[in-house]
Amino acid sequence: MSVTPAHLRRFRPFALLAVVAALAATLLGSPASAGGSAAAAGSLPCDLYAAGGTPCVAAHSTTRALYSAYNGRLYQVRRASDGSTRDIGALGAGGYADAAAQDSFCAGTSCLITVIYDQSARGNHLTQAPPGGFQGPAAGGYDNLAEASAAPVTVGGHKAYGVFIAPGTGYRDNSTNGIATGDQPEGMYAVLDGTHYNGGCCFDYGNAETNSRDNGNGTMETIYFGNIKVWGYGTGNGPWVMADLENGLFSGVNPGYNANDPSVSHRFLTAVVKGGPNHWAIRAGNAQSGGLSTYYDGPRPNASGYNPMKKEGAIILGIGGDNSNSSAGTFYEGVMTSGYPSAATENAVQANVNAAGYTTSAVAGAPTPGARVSLRATTSCCTNSYLRHNSADNNAVIAPVSASSTSADKAAATWTVRPGLGDASCVSFESADKPGQYLRHYDLRLRVDTLDNSALSRLDATFCPQAGHNGQGVSLRSANYPSDFVRHYNYGAYVASHGGTHDWDSATAWADDTSWAVTSPWA
Ligand code: AHR
Repeated sequence: MSVTPAHLRRFRPFALLAVVAALAATLLGSPASAGGSAAAAGSLPCDLYAAGGTPCVAAHSTTRALYSAYNGRLYQVRRASDGSTRDIGALGAGGYADAAAQDSFCAGTSCLITVIYDQSARGNHLTQAPPGGFQGPAAGGYDNLAEASAAPVTVGGHKAYGVFIAPGTGYRDNSTNGIATGDQPEGMYAVLDGTHYNGGCCFDYGNAETNSRDNGNGTMETIYFGNIKVWGYGTGNGPWVMADLENGLFSGVNPGYNANDPSVSHRFLTAVVKGGPNHWAIRAGNAQSGGLSTYYDGPRPNASGYNPMKKEGAIILGIGGDNSNSSAGTFYEGVMTSGYPSAATENAVQANVNAAGYTTSAVAGAPTPGARVSLRATTSCCTNSYLRHNSADNNAVIAPVSASSTSADKAAATWTVRPGLGDASCVSFESADKPGQYLRHYDLRLRVDTLDNSALSRLDATFCPQAGHNGQGVSLRSANYPSDFVRHYNYGAYVASHGGTHDWDSATAWADDTSWAVTSPWA
């Protein structure tokens, strides 16, 4: 039997009318139809949750305001060049993120997202996750921060950035205000990249333990997205939206399989989890269009410890409750509510997410799969030099190439662009004269290699183009080391972070050395 939380058993005519009115306003005044104005017209997700009687108690987004009246800071970035920080705000009340402020602050260097501010006025900001049970202080330390430019996106015609969670990255707030504890009802939704996931534990957003440790069954309640199959799972090979309730990712009432929880991989995915006394649900849908489907709605799992729940009220993003941080994913926006939201409220939120207009952003001049290209250095020393493999060994270097170069030298500096072997939204570079061999990093040095087809080697050979750090051409971000970019250094080629620990991470000329002109192929 499913149990509706007490406050929802009462008829709430005004709240219902408010949701309907807000939904109409959302549909009639969509920012996309408003020609990409800086303010997202209509009622935004937290207005809708408030109207439904289940207000947001945390609201996080690096892409837009989640209240129509919110005009404050969305997130903070820290740049590598001098360690200074900058808050990135909304472009006016209810507006989209001011990504241009990030671009100008981070120009010529790299930035990390240091804080994701809570828009709810409860101060539930997300910061670098501390060590937990999975990664104790002796073993590691704080999780990594997300590279601020790694998840570019367009929202309502505006450039914005998501939070790119590579394994090892995580955010947390262990001292919150207003988040559900014990068996109290709550809801949450998140907009995620449905194509960015893995089978590591656990790409979560939601309610977790306040001491970063596994405190037993029922001590957390979050959205999970990915394709781990060791606990619950659904149809197909994943990824699945599930709930992380601690010591288990649940797709439904049973600890294992739920035939109603499908694999979902919309590029932009809305995921919903909510839970109250002996009642919880999973819902999801395409964040670009259409409604939410319900994958589970019923009583708590029939395994011990989950009824009643023992929620502790911390908030996590990108990690498991005990700080398990092997997971990957991308987060654009999400909230947590007080009270168990109605399906009507969530449907109105989904309509607003549709109207927000999430689309992928094209990178000008990016190499496209199928093309043959050469990659020319843009540093002033070396504008006649191209990325090539050595003839004596397979290491990648830069060297001059001109019309009078030998055909062998021209071919060594020519690449066939392939869909990214480890992430199809990025690219891989197959050597023109060594078919089947790909540019990849190994011990952070670049070389051409025949891959062993492991997931690791495919990721090592995958690079995600973004606008060139010095304003020219493109910079090529490593798919599995998102702070590292293809760089030449002393004529060798590496993946390099800005000011990191290796010689080739040197901050001097980093922006120029990591920017490449994509030219016609030499061969
Ligand atoms: O419930 C799955 C995971 O198990 C939790 O996120 C983590 O705390 C534990 O390792």
